[in-house]
Amino acid sequence: MLTLGIESTCDETACAIVRDGKEILSNVISSQIDVHKVYGGVVPELASRQHINLIMPMIDEALSKAKVSLEEIDLFAVAKGPGLIGALLIGMNVAKSLALAMNKPFIGVNHIEAHLYAALMSHSQLPTFPCLGVVLSGGHTALIYMHEVGYYELLGQTVDDAIGEAFDKVAKMLQLPYPGGPEIEALAKKGNPQRFPFKGGRVKEKPLNFSFSGLKTAVLYTLKGQNEEGNLASFSESDLADLAASFQEAALQDVVKKTLLASKQHGIDTIIFGGGVTNNRYLRDLFTSQDATKHYLWPSTGLSLDNAAMIAGLGYHQYRRLLKSDSLDLEPSPRIPF
Ligand code: KG4
Ligand code: ZN
Repeated sequence: MLTLGIESTCDETACAIVRDGKEILSNVISSQIDVHKVYGGVVPELASRQHINLIMPMIDEALSKAKVSLEEIDLFAVAKGPGLIGALLIGMNVAKSLALAMNKPFIGVNHIEAHLYAALMSHSQLPTFPCLGVVLSGGHTALIYMHEVGYYELLGQTVDDAIGEAFDKVAKMLQLPYPGGPEIEALAKKGNPQRFPFKGGRVKEKPLNFSFSGLKTAVLYTLKGQNEEGNLASFSESDLADLAASFQEAALQDVVKKTLLASKQHGIDTIIFGGGVTNNRYLRDLFTSQDATKHYLWPSTGLSLDNAAMIAGLGYHQYRRLLKSDSLDLEPSPRIPF
């Protein structure tokens, strides 16, 4: 069964062709980073316009790379949210139109769930459930009890900034380019993670929830002082590297601590990761150095950042479970409760 997946939740326009939910025949992504870079973050209206321009060329490219014609596609899958509403609408309407025109089923999938499915696609065998899902992206930070693919329970989430968002905002304070995650990771390699005593936030009575806004403010105060009068120029290159390293240490140690706590509380030893921040090598090393007994499933390169292969993969799985198309009345949702 061939699934064509479409991803347009934020600033990546992507299309992929996947056979039987697993074998990736093509996975093309057009990133809009250069368009948004000058603004230091994603501008929703510009993102929608870019999706309109890029979506049909991306579909053509995915089909041609997979050496498959549109007539051969058995299922159309699209990310239905969460994301930017204008951006979501474009992917959704294109997927519906193609399904209608080709008289084939269509499935809307949850983008966050797809991030976790990406790690499952990256390994030859499915793990034994239940597993603990950890989503660390630009828009989400969540710990999820996975009973099975498709059956989840939210254990904890961020109450303010997502972890990737915190990386991006701190990078902006340090005048590093967008997206800031990889920039902070690179700078942190040259710095001392113990120099500044930052800490991840604790959420009262909810030990598995996250809060990164206090950490972000602590970095800001260190840079500019409480009255925000200081300036970046008074920091040497090595000070800035120490700041990046100390921020990264606090944010990622917090993720490791809460993930291992959730794993202990629920007696789960298999941990599945998804989202752009899982690209971070330091994070992966922290997990293995703190608990090498757990079974960690990371998404492979190309499947950790936003992509359409994970949408096609999960779409196939969802369709096989229910064996019916979603209604063409399905609307995208900027927020989807987990
Ligand atoms: O999953 P993703 O592509 O988009 C969302 O669904 O949000 O994640 C993008 C986020 C950005 O915030 C980016 O800065 C962050 O992932 N990121 C990283 C790294 N690579 C990407 N954060 C920390 N370290 C990295 N190496
Ligand atoms: Zn994402």
